[in-house]
Amino acid sequence: MAGRIKDEDVNYVRDHSPIDEVVGDYVQLKNAGGGQKKGLCPFHDEKSPSFHVTPSKGFYHCFGCQVGGDVIAFIMKLEHLTFMETVERLADRIGYTLRYESSGSSSGPVINRSRLVAANNAAAIFYQEQIQLPAAQHGRDFLTKRGFDRDAAKSFNVGYAPDEWDGLYKHLKGQGFSDEELTLAGLIKEGSKGQIDRYRNRLIWPVKDISGDVVGFGARKLASDEVDQGPKYLNSPETPIYKKNQILYGLDIAKKEIAKSRQVVIVEGYTDVMAAHLAGVTTAVATCGTAFGDEHIRIIRRLLMDADAFRGEVIFTFDGDAAGQKAALRAFEDDQKFVAQTFVAVEPNGMDPCELRQAHGDDAVRNLIARRVPLFEFAIKSVIASYDVKAAEGRVNALNQVAPLIGKIRDASLRPEYVRLLAGWLGMEVDVVSAAIKKNSKAGENQAPVKINLTDPILVLEREVLKVKLQLPALATGWVDLEEAAFSFPLYDQLRKLIDQQSELNIQALLDNSDSDELKSLITELTVEPIRTDGEVSDRYINSIFARLREVALSRVIAEIKSTLQRINPVENDEQYQEIFAKLVDMEAARRVQKELALGES
Ligand code: CTP
Ligand code: MN
Repeated sequence: MAGRIKDEDVNYVRDHSPIDEVVGDYVQLKNAGGGQKKGLCPFHDEKSPSFHVTPSKGFYHCFGCQVGGDVIAFIMKLEHLTFMETVERLADRIGYTLRYESSGSSSGPVINRSRLVAANNAAAIFYQEQIQLPAAQHGRDFLTKRGFDRDAAKSFNVGYAPDEWDGLYKHLKGQGFSDEELTLAGLIKEGSKGQIDRYRNRLIWPVKDISGDVVGFGARKLASDEVDQGPKYLNSPETPIYKKNQILYGLDIAKKEIAKSRQVVIVEGYTDVMAAHLAGVTTAVATCGTAFGDEHIRIIRRLLMDADAFRGEVIFTFDGDAAGQKAALRAFEDDQKFVAQTFVAVEPNGMDPCELRQAHGDDAVRNLIARRVPLFEFAIKSVIASYDVKAAEGRVNALNQVAPLIGKIRDASLRPEYVRLLAGWLGMEVDVVSAAIKKNSKAGENQAPVKINLTDPILVLEREVLKVKLQLPALATGWVDLEEAAFSFPLYDQLRKLIDQQSELNIQALLDNSDSDELKSLITELTVEPIRTDGEVSDRYINSIFARLREVALSRVIAEIKSTLQRINPVENDEQYQEIFAKLVDMEAARRVQKELALGES
């Protein structure tokens, strides 16, 4: 392994990786005024954006979970990369070739993320070569039968795992990958006579993460069940780079369009993603061998976030079967946070998008998505479907089944709408339906938590001065005159001392030198938090807050001097008393000056 990356190259990469662009690959950012952008924090769960980015400074900060830092810190945290891997990745992004210090003596290979990605990439290439060989004819036939021609298969990098015990293993060993790396990457496993390939005689879909790195595979059985007793699809095991509850197949190619069109289509499999994209539904993604869960929702929400609200549609293509309906009915039990944005697209004959495309072409797939229905509607209609609403008894029974569901709709503004709709679906009077629902409904709107806003005016003032110093150092000319006691809040005082160690303000160095996460977080927070003035940030405004801070600090000093004077007997210690008294007079004069300066503004 090479030694450390040269400092100047680290700086070059940092300076040439605009933080809003890099963050923008993961988080939908909107202008927040004052040269700032904001979006939904990728590091914690939130509904309204507290994740701020200041492009001019190159920093991000989340006011919700208090994390912050520069572009390198962002990628390290988000992608779970080391510092070096992050700089390498950012350098790749801008096509810059890094130089390394030659000194560092290597102590054997270190397994890191980039080695695992490299192994998976090399495996994907191997599988794609294999699918072109005569032995993969049945694999190519399978694709053709599913409606995928050569170009389609090629554009999704579909490959073939040969019917051998260790074809991939030998190939990757030849490329210098170790057993440990290949095992960790999930590509091989321990057989009775040594290492063997995980996938054999299967079609292979490389699974990429949001940034397009191959992190795992989906492998479909090609042999008959007698020959291959394994499951129809084998998916990568959990590895350091493949976490199935966070993987959405197709997200790398769909993410831009998802954010742009504010729509995501969740389909069920690899072939469905291919079919949907080829049919022009370019917002399609699929989970890989697991249910769509909270982690997937978080990833999607980030892309669909707009200004300060989640806007957009999540469209599920359930099978028309019982499992799909059960999943839909859960909508009434869950927290219903995004239910108004959740839709269902079900093909009446139970075809999945891949089958639909083969049977009726690309238009049919696009129409399926266009005909999506709101999740509540789908769930309610699937209950009604089991009753014969042509008969009076059927209508009444259906109403009694559905009424409690409507009562469970949390968004009160949606309920009357569903009462009307339900009346129509059942062919009943709105009043009758409405009465049945009133009887059933539980009151219980949940209240939004009260947001407590702590605003000690002195702490606010201290904070403002620190922000000016960090954000507009050239205008913070009063900084050097600040009293030693200027900052009463300990963390603010720590930051002040750190700043005072520098001859010229350097925020990166401040971060590097701060010894607590609390302090680091404060620094990035203050670097991006808007300065709290109603008007523009003028010289006068800045001078006045500095003066006001000094006035407050001098008041503190004066109070102390006074209490000292009370403890001195002027008769016994006349000289000392006079000296301290003179200081008091000076301080009071100084305070008057600052007070006038502070008022001079307003
Ligand atoms: N799946 C899985 N494990 C299985 C079966 C299915 O992980 N044993 C996942 C795969 O991601 C698959 C998806 O569920 O793509 C949908 O399954 P299914 O509808 O059975 O597969 P299709 O891709 O529609 O079917 P086929 O490959 O036969 O065309
Ligand atoms: Mn299917």
